Amino acid sequence: MKTNNIEVSSRDNFGSRFGVLVAMAGSAIGLGNLWRFPYLMGENGGAAFIIIYLVFVFVLCLPIMFSEFILGRRSQSNVFGAFRVLAPGSKWGIIGIFGVLASICILSFYSVVGGWSIEYLVKAVLFDFTRAGSEANHATMFSDFVSSPVKPLLYHLAFMALTAFVVLAGIKKGIEKYTKMMMPMLFVMVIIIAIRSLTLEGAGAGVSYMFKPDFSKVTSGTFLAALGQAFFSLSLGCGTIMTYGSYVSKDENIMKCSAYTSIADTLFAIIAGCAIMPAVFAFGISPGEGPGLVFITLPRIFASLPLGGVIAILFFVTLLLAALTSSISLLEVFVSYLIEEFKMKRGGAVAIAFGIILLLGCFCSLSQGAMSGVKLFGMNIFDLFDYVSSNVLMPIGGLLIVIFVGWRLGKTAAFDELTNHGTLKIPQWLLETVFFIIRFVAPVTIAVIMIF
Ligand code: TRP
Repeated sequence: MKTNNIEVSSRDNFGSRFGVLVAMAGSAIGLGNLWRFPYLMGENGGAAFIIIYLVFVFVLCLPIMFSEFILGRRSQSNVFGAFRVLAPGSKWGIIGIFGVLASICILSFYSVVGGWSIEYLVKAVLFDFTRAGSEANHATMFSDFVSSPVKPLLYHLAFMALTAFVVLAGIKKGIEKYTKMMMPMLFVMVIIIAIRSLTLEGAGAGVSYMFKPDFSKVTSGTFLAALGQAFFSLSLGCGTIMTYGSYVSKDENIMKCSAYTSIADTLFAIIAGCAIMPAVFAFGISPGEGPGLVFITLPRIFASLPLGGVIAILFFVTLLLAALTSSISLLEVFVSYLIEEFKMKRGGAVAIAFGIILLLGCFCSLSQGAMSGVKLFGMNIFDLFDYVSSNVLMPIGGLLIVIFVGWRLGKTAAFDELTNHGTLKIPQWLLETVFFIIRFVAPVTIAVIMIF
């Protein structure tokens, strides 16, 4: 017991409940909320999509989040070490390797986009959007920028430097301190933009695009899209929640904390939709998803929007902060692994992780221009990293995690962790339902989705 205590207390930890919550919400809220969710909602039947999405988030994904949380907090260890602690001498550590690889993969292209958002913030400050004029010019401005050989690399470097700076300072003095500052700002800014957008003439069309329930648009594809989005948006399957969970104190309520994270993530996605879609429709543009929406369509709108200059700056700060709080959590997965498994100092671990991501990110960035001819399975490096992480590593990681908790760790240990050794009064039926989902429903659903 004693050695245990020493081991636990020698690790850095989150200092407050609010700190845990904002860090987890920060990881979840990211590009996925801003550039995919609003569009998916509109494309898939508005309110009908929200209902399906909510069911996936709260019935299926939440138990998966609990599972990651349980593993992290119970083991008080990184994604790989967790399995050494919980299943000594077994091969389950492979899950951790998947987690580390997935987070490296995601971070490599995510940080490139983070770099783009810095460049666009600079453009917003310099009023470049007003000068660009037509949609075609905005499209050229974007493609010229991302395909140029040097500039995006420098911005990628800048974005990774910011990420590394926070992670270097540790959990309490770094991640917690900075996400506590960034997350409230993020919400305030997106709400301001939403108010501006909703009060435009013609905003109603965007609101009805997003919210009007249209069950005729719901197809099997809708379910796939909703589940994929829920998984990605909640940062599941690559050990982020596990890693953050390992820094959470033993008297925190895992179920509550995870539920709040999911609520914040969903709420943010809906507000982001209200910030983007009404403006898009007010300007008579048909919405798209991804980089085109955020870096071409929106700047064009900002250029002719009353108060557009200010809104543009707010928007790209929002994008930057959202990306930053997610990338911090991704880097921490890798860094905690290096620190604990290779007995490195935090500084050395951050330096190595930083160097590796920087290099991989450069390839992702160059694949938009100079290296666009380099293709594997018909995809450039950027798309390949995206594809492999979202469609292979994250689902497999998620699948193995629920299988581990459901079949290897077992019910007693899981309940023990969820109830904080029986001190939390959680209804038995709820625990049993959650465990049933972890054991049967989640693995089957993830497997089915992967086959599709
Ligand atoms: N959830 C993030 C978003 O919506 C992206 C993401 C996916 C992520 N997996 C992650 C972030 C793992 C951190 C960790 O943009």
